[in-house]
Amino acid sequence: MQFSFAALSTAAEGALVVAATAGSNLQASATAADKAMGGAMTRALKSGKFTGKAGQVLEFMAPSGLSASRVLLVGLGKAEEFDANGAEHLAASMTGRLLTSGEKALTFAIDLPKGSKLKASALAAHLASGAKLRSYTFNTYRTKNREDFEPTLKTVTVGTTDAAGARKAWSALDAVAEGVFFARDLVNEPPNVLYPVEFARRAKAMSKLGLKVEVLGVAEMKKLGMGALLGVGQGSDHESQLVVMEWNGAKGKKGSQPIAFVGKGVCFDSGGLSLKPGASMMGMKGDMGGAAAVSGVMRALAMRKAKVHAVGVIGLVENMPSGKAQRPDDVVTSMSGQTIEVLNTDAEGRLVLADALWYTQTRFKPKFVIDLATLTGAIMVALGNEHAGLFSNNDQLSARICEAGANSGEPVWRLPLASGYDKLIKSKIADMKNIGGPNAGSITAAQFLQRFIDKTPWAHLDIAGTAWQDGEAKPLYPGWGTGWGVRLLDRLVANHYEG
Ligand code: BES
Ligand code: MN
Ligand code: ZN
Repeated sequence: MQFSFAALSTAAEGALVVAATAGSNLQASATAADKAMGGAMTRALKSGKFTGKAGQVLEFMAPSGLSASRVLLVGLGKAEEFDANGAEHLAASMTGRLLTSGEKALTFAIDLPKGSKLKASALAAHLASGAKLRSYTFNTYRTKNREDFEPTLKTVTVGTTDAAGARKAWSALDAVAEGVFFARDLVNEPPNVLYPVEFARRAKAMSKLGLKVEVLGVAEMKKLGMGALLGVGQGSDHESQLVVMEWNGAKGKKGSQPIAFVGKGVCFDSGGLSLKPGASMMGMKGDMGGAAAVSGVMRALAMRKAKVHAVGVIGLVENMPSGKAQRPDDVVTSMSGQTIEVLNTDAEGRLVLADALWYTQTRFKPKFVIDLATLTGAIMVALGNEHAGLFSNNDQLSARICEAGANSGEPVWRLPLASGYDKLIKSKIADMKNIGGPNAGSITAAQFLQRFIDKTPWAHLDIAGTAWQDGEAKPLYPGWGTGWGVRLLDRLVANHYEG
């Protein structure tokens, strides 16, 4: 899809979007369209329920007096409440409506509402961003009726009073959307295609963007003593991998202390010998959603040439049962030297992260480390699919993540860590066991991870409820894999760690 910015105008081919604020206040562009249509809009307003509330739409097909094939009047709600998230949702829902409709062009003629805190350039760039995020499709494996699924919409034009400013803001948002798409593709790929070596290959291909990408195989990880990660992958015919991605866009400081992201990359989670029941195994190709988000944000940072030094480390394994698989009752030794009694091979994510986190801290001494993982089903019991769970040893980092989550439309909710939970992961024969009791499953998992954190400021995001969606699609997330986390992490970097 092609995006461009131009002066506000109602002279457009294809679909034209104009707006009203709450109280059916037609904006200047809407009034111009209404005049050209001989007052059809004002007449329609008299008979319907349209009031200009956010989310409302009135559609006029084949309007006379205009070159557009249809005009959509949309509600913005109250001007002072209309923000970047509102602009993205609006553009996304229009794009969803028109994507495969046969329309080839979409033009937004939305004036900056008086009283909105947005700048004209930001409004335009976020309209484009919402349209792009919604335009994602994953049709790689369809051989039939492709025309039903392939977008017809090819161009989006956003009208604005500040086209130059909009283009500048858009180039960063466009890069972030590319990172989101990369993550979505990784999550959506089936596990017979995207196993650890293939994931690592796709990460390695990002070298051409200026990222430094290293791939460690089993032999190297053995030397490093990563018994926890390797135990998870040992039942699979696919070799485990650890991928290290580094972006250094910080000005003139080659040896500067980086920030670090770590991702759980279980390319398929069968549960291992503690086998999942069939219905719970469906969708477990997405158990690498944390690794996908980390890869996606690294791509976004490189594409927008962010002025930051960042590393992304992902542990890639396949959790399978076999004669070589790890057993419940096994004891493994992690890279940190701590031993773990594996009582349930389905609590594998924390084992992968234990070594990935330790490796990241000892090698890079980062300013902070944030891990993302589809770690526990229990986080969905607590938070459903609206918030990801946040756990942290650092209040400032937490506050910044919460803020970036709200800014980017990827909200998080903080849950507690406390030593009182430690007794739940006490082992009879090793330093700890890999499961807690029936209660507080997300907290005991986070408490386990904390044992592999030195003194580094650390946050853990449990994204089991947000990395993919089974039910109804959300406006900005059309597909199954959401790419959740890319936008949040990019925003965190932009807000606090650049320059
Ligand atoms: N990958 C799962 C968590 C998960 C469940 C993600 C559902 C997305 C949807 C994780 O490896 C797992 O199996 N966790 C167990 C932990 C338990 C054995 C302590 C769980 O949540 O049941
Ligand atoms: Mn599992
Ligand atoms: Zn898992």
